Amino acid sequence: MKRTQVAIVGAGPAGLLLGQLLHKEGIDTLILERRSAEYVGSRIRAGVLEPGTVDVLERAGVASRLHAEGLIHDGVEIGFRGQRHRIDLKALTGKGVTVYGQTEITHDLMNARAASGAPSVYEAEDVALHELAGTSPRVSYRHQGVAHEVACDFIAGCDGFHGVSRRSIPASVLKVFERVYPFGWLGLLADVPPPWHELIYANSERGFALASLRSPTRVRCYVQCSLEDRVENWSDEQFWDEFRRRIGDEMAARISNAPSIEKSIAPLRSFVAEPLRFGRLFLAGDAAHIVPPTGAKGLNLAASDVLYLYESLRSFYREKSERGLDEYSPRCLKRIWRAERFSWWMTSQLHRFPDDAFGRRMQETELEYLFESRAAQQSMAENYVGLPFEPMGGS
Ligand code: APR
Ligand code: PHB
Repeated sequence: MKRTQVAIVGAGPAGLLLGQLLHKEGIDTLILERRSAEYVGSRIRAGVLEPGTVDVLERAGVASRLHAEGLIHDGVEIGFRGQRHRIDLKALTGKGVTVYGQTEITHDLMNARAASGAPSVYEAEDVALHELAGTSPRVSYRHQGVAHEVACDFIAGCDGFHGVSRRSIPASVLKVFERVYPFGWLGLLADVPPPWHELIYANSERGFALASLRSPTRVRCYVQCSLEDRVENWSDEQFWDEFRRRIGDEMAARISNAPSIEKSIAPLRSFVAEPLRFGRLFLAGDAAHIVPPTGAKGLNLAASDVLYLYESLRSFYREKSERGLDEYSPRCLKRIWRAERFSWWMTSQLHRFPDDAFGRRMQETELEYLFESRAAQQSMAENYVGLPFEPMGGS
């Protein structure tokens, strides 16, 4: 029977970031990850960071490459009726966002974990959680065919939407809220200069499109697709043709076809599980909530959950106070629901919904209002750069 203070299930950005913050605090952790380190490091995900998330990564001591290679964007553009409308984040909020791929963040965190010497077990199978309601929870798992068990004070469920942690909370306790959208995103990564130096979210007659980037020579582009679609039905040429039809003529002329490095389809879902705590188990990140990617909030919400959990655990070990732990779930949920609302709003304004003429008029009117109203742009900008963190003891 091994022993640690905090057993962390999942080595995605949430689990690794929590492990790093607690390690720097001298709090012991063990990370258990079902997949291999290679697999975890190879996943392609989004890459827009709120300034608050950058602060948390700095606190964890993993921001040097981010600062060296990340791109600061002071604005974001909305494409509509062939025109582009810039939302000046800097002028409206005094802040910008940082474009730096989640894959890079995961690499920086994995390197920091390896350098820290703190233990991680990759390819940990059959992870199961025990005695969550008591003060001595345990985690069991199998590794290379051998059964293992870990005694701990707390379990951090950072194992994503399909993980075991949320499923370990009794159905009588857990409440879930969900909205599944009638479309997906077909994303393509390619080594070609982006058409524009800022992100462009386009609402076109043919559906949504997004021009994003990873660097001045690597683009990440998306088009709205149907849920029945299969990635193998889309050649790279077909993707670029469709993308050009949606992103506006000026930008279309600036895009050259390039072979895809990665191409995949992701469904769009809004999902929240309440509460984020059951006894000594605390959920963080995608284990507790999913946002559609339109608001670029997935990683940023995981980072704020992790900051709140780190602060609560630190106060438990330093001041023997349970207050932070008791406030963890409501404190997170306040920020989660605001990010869910913003992501739902962005998704509702920028995608084509089937057979909804009234909804279409609402979109057109909402976007016209957005482009004309500084107040509306202020609201969008302050949500896009990230709402302030809730101080501990604040809620
Ligand atoms: N046992 C151990 N590990 C598990 C288990 C399990 N039963 N189930 C899942 N995992 C691992 C997954 O393999 C994955 O590496 O947990 C990790 C969860 O990582 P993510 O899904 O990346 O979730 P999170 O760390 O919360 O990051 C959220 O990822 O999906 C994006 O948009 C999302 O940006 C957000 C971020
Ligand atoms: C991305 O760069 O992959 C990206 C950017 C912004 C989003 C979603 C994805 O809203």
